[in-house]
Amino acid sequence: MLPITNNTSKQSLHPFQTRIQSRVNEFFDTRIAVTWGGMHLIDRDPPKPGAVNLSTNDYLNLSHHPRIAAAIRNQLASEHHSTLMSSLFLAKGGIQRTFEQEFAQLLGCESSVLCQSGWAANVGLIQSIADETTNVYIDFLAHMSLWEGIRSARATPKPFRHNSPDHLRRLLKQNGPGIIVVDSVYSTDGTICPLQEIVDLAGEYGCALVVDESHSIGTHGPKGSGLVCELGLEDRVDFRTFSLAKAFAGRGGLITCTERFREYFLMESLPSIFSSALLPHEVAGFLETLKVIQQADKPRRQLQCNAQRLRDGLNELGFDTLGTETQIVCLMGGPEVNTLLMRQQLVKYDIHGAPFGPPATPANRSLMRFTVRSDVSDSDIDRVIAACATLLGKPYQPQMQKIRRHARPRRILTGPSRLTHPPINPGHGNVGNRIPPVAENTV
Ligand SMILES: Cc1ncc(COP(=O)(O)O)c(C=O)c1O
Repeated sequence: MLPITNNTSKQSLHPFQTRIQSRVNEFFDTRIAVTWGGMHLIDRDPPKPGAVNLSTNDYLNLSHHPRIAAAIRNQLASEHHSTLMSSLFLAKGGIQRTFEQEFAQLLGCESSVLCQSGWAANVGLIQSIADETTNVYIDFLAHMSLWEGIRSARATPKPFRHNSPDHLRRLLKQNGPGIIVVDSVYSTDGTICPLQEIVDLAGEYGCALVVDESHSIGTHGPKGSGLVCELGLEDRVDFRTFSLAKAFAGRGGLITCTERFREYFLMESLPSIFSSALLPHEVAGFLETLKVIQQADKPRRQLQCNAQRLRDGLNELGFDTLGTETQIVCLMGGPEVNTLLMRQQLVKYDIHGAPFGPPATPANRSLMRFTVRSDVSDSDIDRVIAACATLLGKPYQPQMQKIRRHARPRRILTGPSRLTHPPINPGHGNVGNRIPPVAENTV
């Protein structure tokens, strides 16, 4: 092995190795040593037994579901031939086609195409519908994979302020039609896209519309069919994309489309051509998950109750939960070291969230994200709220509530406060709908 990443190597490096070496050193010498004060933003120690872990996206707690596990095992036992190939070579009538058709049926569309991940779905889709001449209007908080699709298509990004149809309209007036790209639920702050207004703008300005439903599939809509279905907008959205690594608790991605587009996509999208398809046992797991998800009204309702309990508790403490209305609930740490210290403090109480810093957020807008699940108990949520209460008054206290100019109306909290800590005045930090310098991105 070349000594390229070994800082202590005495071996001499040629100029390009030195260049790579200095990039690696920069991470250790600047990000870890200076920005994080010698600590690490992410906690890599496994949570202790009994800890509350709100860092996974397994919203409906399906990762160990016995029916899904059995479907995977049965498929593995019955596989007799290799399917290690790109999707475009898969024979007709296989399990992948069955899953795509059943998924499309739930979502009220003609067809769908299974991809290796949500990343591959988004990059492959944008790359195959946009080119150098295309304006792509994209919400600042849309997922990084959508930005990467724009980059790979060499299209022109036209970012608009988060959840601001007014800003989008101004850009459309200035620049003309193109493709509009949004998430239905934003993965860094849990806010919901004003889909009806976006759909209307797409119609008015003759734009194609892509909606990433990764964080609403399974959790929202009739039988978990997502927000587009909940709002009855199936016929007004051109493409919906999904990561199956959230409520579907597996590894995969999907795009809703027409049958004809599916054929085109398989031969046109680079991830589809140059990366192998999912394996049949993975797809068998998804097929069963699709059935389980449709029957999961009770866990879905429980998930919403749990999320509301956490949001209400944190709001009662005076924290700014950034306008979330969903199972994704964040506290804004601001500078990364604040989120790191917040993370350390919460771990003392055996509470685990997911700390996000650049490139998932802009500099100085790092976050602690909690993803709520249907299986978390009230007492676990109260433990999270109580641990967060210990952040009050600390030098790294998260951002407190303030009036945000473009915020949607907040829910009115009802009932007695469960917590003894009174809300305190707005503190440090700065969020809202200012245009940030870079894509605010997501995990
Ligand atoms: C909104 C959104 N889209 C796409 C992706 C990418 O999905 P995957 O992890 O399946 O590649 C994610 C996950 O990080 C996401 O949150």
